[in-house]
Amino acid sequence: MTRLGHPLPPPVLEPPIRLAEHLLATDPERFRVAVMGSPKRERLAGFAIALQREHVWFLSQLYVLPSDQGQGIGQALLSLVLPSDAGPGDADRDPGDIPHKPGVLATCTDAAQPVSNALYGKLGIVARMPVVNLIGRLSSPQALPQLPKGVEPVPLEPTGQLAHRNPAAPGKADLAGVVDSIDRAVLGYAHRADHDFLRIQGRSGFLYRAAAGDPLGYGYSSRAGRFGPVALLDETLTAPVIGHLMRAIEPRGAASVWVPGANDRAMVALLRAGFRLEGFPAMFCWTRPFAAFERYLPAGLALL
Ligand SMILES: CC(C)(COP(=O)(O)OP(=O)(O)OC[C@H]1O[C@@H](n2cnc3c(N)ncnc32)[C@H](O)[C@@H]1OP(=O)(O)O)[C@@H](O)C(=O)NCCC(=O)NCCS
Repeated sequence: MTRLGHPLPPPVLEPPIRLAEHLLATDPERFRVAVMGSPKRERLAGFAIALQREHVWFLSQLYVLPSDQGQGIGQALLSLVLPSDAGPGDADRDPGDIPHKPGVLATCTDAAQPVSNALYGKLGIVARMPVVNLIGRLSSPQALPQLPKGVEPVPLEPTGQLAHRNPAAPGKADLAGVVDSIDRAVLGYAHRADHDFLRIQGRSGFLYRAAAGDPLGYGYSSRAGRFGPVALLDETLTAPVIGHLMRAIEPRGAASVWVPGANDRAMVALLRAGFRLEGFPAMFCWTRPFAAFERYLPAGLALL
């Protein structure tokens, strides 16, 4: 960041460390560090963390210390956390083919980092979509309409249960299944462990249902201002759901939302509501399309 003339992010290490612990717990074999020096004087030169959720492999983080860059460490770390048959050496592939097994390879890069974009691009994990950071408060709340009549927001407890049990509401197991099905329809894969992690980290969620009980989507926000994920089966609910989440879980300060370029409804609604663009865009990269980003807002860039 310094090299690019950008301010350093605030030195708050707790959230990334908690995320690293979560990913170490769910994907220990895809969490690797590069160690330099002799056993007595060893030091870390870099690390790579990836996660596998159903058919989607996602590179969460890859960092090499500036003084150790350009020596092949990044590439070596990446090859260690890739799915075993996704490397560039598949015998039955023509040069230039993108890996097609075992599913999708994806990540999110900084638009301003040519090295990482080139490193992933060689594997077919090509930068395809900008994702921008919108930060602010609801200074023009009327830009975010109320939920349409008949759409019921049902709070999710930190454990993933519905807060108010009623005969029409699904039980815990059913609810997890409902969220799974929304995720598969919108994000392309289910990821219960990540939902549990986000709830434990203070994100509060709602399931949105139609009057007849059919699920319409879900959304999370937090008092700390970390917004998302939001997954909607019906994209016309984007602005009302963002408005509901912002009002129901009022952030203590400014809220931060990552908006994929495809989600024009969220972009327009948040800009009109008073949010401002922050920094330069990140880029979603993938080998094959996997998510309906026009109906999704990620939790962050290291964990969708
Ligand atoms: C991205 C990063 C992890 C790469 O680690 P590294 O150890 O420097 O990378 P390597 O030396 O293994 O490989 C870099 C490759 O990129 C290539 N490369 C560099 N700049 C390039 C460019 N502009 N266009 C095309 N290729 C380029 C190099 O030639 C090299 O490939 P080669 O060995 O086949 O020649 C490291 O630069 C880093 O930590 N960057 C800052 C954080 C970051 O951007 N992380 C990625 C998350 S978005």
